[in-house]
Amino acid sequence: MRIIVGISGGIAAYKAPMLVRLLKKNGHDVQCVATSHALQFVTPLTLQTVSGHAVYSDLFAESNDFSTEHIALKDWADAIVVAPATANIIAKMAAGVADDALSTTLLSMAGKRRFVCPAMNSDMLHAPATQRNIEQLRADGVTIIESAVGELACGCVGDGRMAESEEIYSRLISSMEAPLAGKKVLITAGPTYERIDAVRFVGNFSSGKMGYALAEVMAEQGAEVVLVSGPTHLTTRHSGIRRIDVESARQMYSAAVETFPSCDAAVLCAAVADYRPEHCADHKLKKNGNKGLTIEMVQNPDILATLGKMKREGQTLVGFALETNDERANAKSKLERKNLDMIVLNSLRDKGAGFGVDTNKVLIIKRDGSEVEGELKSKRAVAEDIVRELKLK
Ligand code: CTP
Repeated sequence: MRIIVGISGGIAAYKAPMLVRLLKKNGHDVQCVATSHALQFVTPLTLQTVSGHAVYSDLFAESNDFSTEHIALKDWADAIVVAPATANIIAKMAAGVADDALSTTLLSMAGKRRFVCPAMNSDMLHAPATQRNIEQLRADGVTIIESAVGELACGCVGDGRMAESEEIYSRLISSMEAPLAGKKVLITAGPTYERIDAVRFVGNFSSGKMGYALAEVMAEQGAEVVLVSGPTHLTTRHSGIRRIDVESARQMYSAAVETFPSCDAAVLCAAVADYRPEHCADHKLKKNGNKGLTIEMVQNPDILATLGKMKREGQTLVGFALETNDERANAKSKLERKNLDMIVLNSLRDKGAGFGVDTNKVLIIKRDGSEVEGELKSKRAVAEDIVRELKLK
């Protein structure tokens, strides 16, 4: 592939030559476009040596034809990755400002794949203006590559450290190659709310972060994702994700059953309430003197088991399991019973795993009995592992 590495003026610019080298080593052609501030941190000679091309930095340098250089670059490139991206270049991109070689090139590449690796002081990163600009870039179809350590599955960016070159490289390549292009995937995520009366419900603490991270990773790899989501505060950013918002298990069931037949795979991540109140009062229940309250509960349909019965040749079905005892044996029997291809066992024992937090630790068990045990990592990284093991390509 032909890739432009855009470099703006932050200390992390010293890592840019490493990214260029990694791309070159793997057979890609690279040209560097740097801001004048970037060249305070890394020399043009270094960039030129690792890329094998002159560095484009000055719109009006005698060696270029300023009116066409950035257009020629746009036509040449398959993608541009800005690493590091300062708050300033992110703001310029969000606003469409074109006042130097890098911002001009970026604006001319609005129709191409663009990747941005934020790197800045964490206060600057968390400033509302920067967060707004990053959201704007996402809405414009730019892929934001954050460091796995700093990244929060909720969508806010973490501590401002730039992702390592290897991480940027692998995100860039997997996204460009779109290994899941042409695949359609159903994902369920979040909790379900089961109404008691007009203002109360029975729910659970699921945040939806794991399912949203999965949706994001699969969409980035080119899949068409249908995300059936229980109530959460999370937002979806990728245009490849169609979100269907539901509240109760029965609504989730209907959406999933309707969507599954046209899908290549389904990953059921949602924490579905197994029971719902038999009756839902259409008004607010009043206190009843000093007496207690008994709510009759009835069983909800099992979405995973239903899809397991519907599953046809060529479809892949993945479930999650949260077990407190005999974890492996229970997960394996769930896999058999519900006709799954893979089950992801959540650990409840490990600190930092499970509900609400940004990290998770899972054991993946496949139908053939093989297992992949993961470390504690960001939900995004866990999602990448799950997608890799799915082997949908
Ligand atoms: N699940 C579902 N529909 C339900 C309940 C669960 O689709 N009504 C899915 C979850 O999304 C998850 C998997 O089933 O992928 C496992 O849920 P879990 O609550 O661990 O297991 P159950 O099947 O409910 O079994 P048990 O409560 O007996 O452990």
